Amino acid sequence: MEWIVVRDYDAMSEEAARRIIERMKAQPDLVLGLATGSTPVGTYRRLVDAFRRGEISFARVRTVNLDEYVGLAPDHPQSYARFMREQLFDHVDLPADAWDIPRGTAADLEAECARYEAHIRELGGIDLQLLGIGTNGHIGFNEPGTPFESRTHVVALTASTREANARFFERPEDVPTHAVTMGLETILEAREILLLASGPSKREAIRRLYHEGPSPDLPASALKHHPRVTVIVDEAAAADIR
Ligand code: F6R
Repeated sequence: MEWIVVRDYDAMSEEAARRIIERMKAQPDLVLGLATGSTPVGTYRRLVDAFRRGEISFARVRTVNLDEYVGLAPDHPQSYARFMREQLFDHVDLPADAWDIPRGTAADLEAECARYEAHIRELGGIDLQLLGIGTNGHIGFNEPGTPFESRTHVVALTASTREANARFFERPEDVPTHAVTMGLETILEAREILLLASGPSKREAIRRLYHEGPSPDLPASALKHHPRVTVIVDEAAAADIR
């Protein structure tokens, strides 16, 4: 694991975007794994800026996302599909059929998980996976206790995750109870991984990730088994690792 500590959220976003832009230039048909949430918003803004400057194109890029809430259709304002369109897809030249996100409204969710895995395989795997980290150490929606061997699956969200995500919903009870997420093994098959963390709420998860060995208690620690992981963390989140 390579650790990069930067000053603040903007510097984290800048460094992440710089690395993604570099990969996109080197490999225009990159398969990008994407994350939602507050963490990557600044990174996506910089990718849109780079596209507008003519520095990068998404015309041959394919993307897959980590997860989606069960029960939310792709056009639901709080769905991750909508989030991705608003933050990135609608502002760049990514073809409409070049992105995929688990369908949270699929009638048969097990079949949807299998479809998603098959799709990632057909793409030839993920070249670069972007990750945030939950305050409880989750990656994707792989909550503590998830086996490292897990593939794309349906999960019940923990109370702490539903609370952390309630800020995006009108009422706390509107936060879905379940999600479809890539499994830890699915994530670990990405050829390269970039994990971002910013702010004091991530301090404890980052402290544990830095100091503890791999254990399902801290899902992000599965990344310690991966040969090419870069963690970009700001000073507030890194307060306990220096
Ligand atoms: C999002 C995802 C989650 C988030 C994590 C951090 O697709 O899979 O693991 O990365 O919950 O969320 P934020 O960035 O909102 O703090």
